[in-house]
Amino acid sequence: MHVPDPGPEEVVIRVEACGVCHTDLHYRDGGIGDAFPFLLGHEAAGRVEAIGAGVTNVAPGDVVVVAWRAPCGTCRSCLRGRPWYCFDSQNARQRMTLDDGTELTAALGIGAFAEFCLVHARQAVKVDPSVRREAAALIGCGVMAGFGAAVTTGAVAPGDTVAVIGCGGVGNAAISGASIAGARMVIGIDVVERKLEWARRFGATHTIDATREDPVEAIRALTGGFGADLVVDAVGRPETYLQAFLARDHAGRLVNVGVPPEQGMTVELPMSEVFGRGGSLRSSWYGDCLPSRDFPVLIDLYRKGRLDLDGFVSEIITVNDVEAAFSKIVKSEVLRSVVVFTPR
Ligand SMILES: NC(=O)c1ccc[n+]([C@@H]2O[C@H](COP(=O)([O-])OP(=O)(O)OC[C@H]3O[C@@H](n4cnc5c(N)ncnc54)[C@H](O)[C@@H]3O)[C@@H](O)[C@H]2O)c1
Ligand SMILES: [Zn+2]
Ligand SMILES: [Zn+2]
Repeated sequence: MHVPDPGPEEVVIRVEACGVCHTDLHYRDGGIGDAFPFLLGHEAAGRVEAIGAGVTNVAPGDVVVVAWRAPCGTCRSCLRGRPWYCFDSQNARQRMTLDDGTELTAALGIGAFAEFCLVHARQAVKVDPSVRREAAALIGCGVMAGFGAAVTTGAVAPGDTVAVIGCGGVGNAAISGASIAGARMVIGIDVVERKLEWARRFGATHTIDATREDPVEAIRALTGGFGADLVVDAVGRPETYLQAFLARDHAGRLVNVGVPPEQGMTVELPMSEVFGRGGSLRSSWYGDCLPSRDFPVLIDLYRKGRLDLDGFVSEIITVNDVEAAFSKIVKSEVLRSVVVFTPR
């Protein structure tokens, strides 16, 4: 594989750790377009190896978490002060290639299942260099997406009741975020008991095994018959979306952070309930985060012992084990397998 030298506004990162996110699996399975060959891996931390002309935010040797959102600053969302909805998030202009010159599509503009990766300088967010790389890497996607889905998109307020459907890496980050933000009840729902144990560890006050109980009825029963103020769908299938929709209290919020696994999936909602219940139905890309603002906040929570990033690291693997890690995602055996590159 060939990684070009960094051009203007580009940096090469020496990848030290990269988590295996379910979104990589969606890419592999064709759920996110067909621009094969993909270079997967988008949840990474490492050191800046080299910088191109005009790069001022990082220098060689800096420890960074790689972001898949790097607002342009000039599109209509950025200009309206909403850079988390940027239409033109920046990526490296040059492409990484196979040795025969075949251009690779870097997953989410990153492609970090490799020792080096080329990104736009603004995708490199400098963080405290003392942080454990396997933990920091997870902020680059799943933990930030889940945490932000609850705290930023879902706007958890002290005293809220929150339910999270799907307690994988993303869902448990939503559970942690809700708990840190002061939710009085956090309900974790999954179809695998091991995941529910993790959910309790990350702050779920109650858990529901959706293979044994109807999650909508069970959430209502736990919330005095009303439903939750916020339901996060961290699975992204029509059936979980409908459950999230129905399990809300009057004027409750739904936040969908799970990516639909197949293109063309549809969801049917009872119109009278859409109107009658009020509230909001939102989707959350990357937890509506602004990486330069929010990554250091999560690192700080980690360093203070409030956000258990280490708890998300289920196993350390080599880059040759990614396929096996995908099988473990399918079997729901891990929160995160993390590829670690040992320096030569
Ligand atoms: N929106 C974003 O910015 C963003 C970022 C990262 C990941 N994602 C997406 O979030 C989703 C979760 O990612 P992850 O890495 O945590 O995946 P994961 O596979 O680790 O977690 C998914 C969890 O959902 C559970 N589950 C499956 N079907 C269920 C059902 N019917 N009811 C309840 N639980 C069920 C699984 O057992 C598993 O624990 C994926 O779709 C991923 O692509 C979105
Ligand atoms: Zn923009
Ligand atoms: Zn991801």
